[in-house]
Amino acid sequence: MRLVVLVSGSGSNLQAVLDAVSAGTLEVQIAAVGADRPGTGGVARSADAGIETFVVNFKDYATRSDWDEALLAAVAAYQPDYVLSSGFMRIVAAGFIEAFPGRYLNTHPALLPSFPGAHGVRDALAYGVKVTGCTVHIADAGVDTGPILAQTAVAVRGDDTEESLHERIKVAERELLIRVLGELTA
Ligand code: GRF
Repeated sequence: MRLVVLVSGSGSNLQAVLDAVSAGTLEVQIAAVGADRPGTGGVARSADAGIETFVVNFKDYATRSDWDEALLAAVAAYQPDYVLSSGFMRIVAAGFIEAFPGRYLNTHPALLPSFPGAHGVRDALAYGVKVTGCTVHIADAGVDTGPILAQTAVAVRGDDTEESLHERIKVAERELLIRVLGELTA
């Protein structure tokens, strides 16, 4: 399975995928890792691992659709079987979804359809839920919408902060992501 991974942040979930691939426990070929801005940890980690990287910097494009086209062209050039949004903090255009039908995956740090959006952990904590978790799903052009592939529940503790809860969710998120990718390659 050829995979292109999109990141906006530190890429700690991506690191777990890189580790599983190098340990031989996950048989995917990471064709490239791309970001929507320069200087992400995700791109740095990938370059360190000898993986091709690219940046389609949102700020370099005059219009949103110019960026959409550039992102699609950059990803399509690697002819991926799947594209994974791993902490990629932008919604892609409908044309991107159409180019990779059922093959654009996203991980989200909440039990969708609860708490979609950029602050899923903060919103769950603020609501006062006692259980939250993570979701891996096939993404469509909405905000964290599309068919759910797998979820893991994580209990909220009384003394949790957004950071402590997110760290525990990420541990579960990494395991879930690697399990789902493994199932897709089987
Ligand atoms: C993950 O929890 C992801 O679901 C969310 O941001 C986090 C990504 O962290 N959107 P990292 O970049 O993998 O460290």
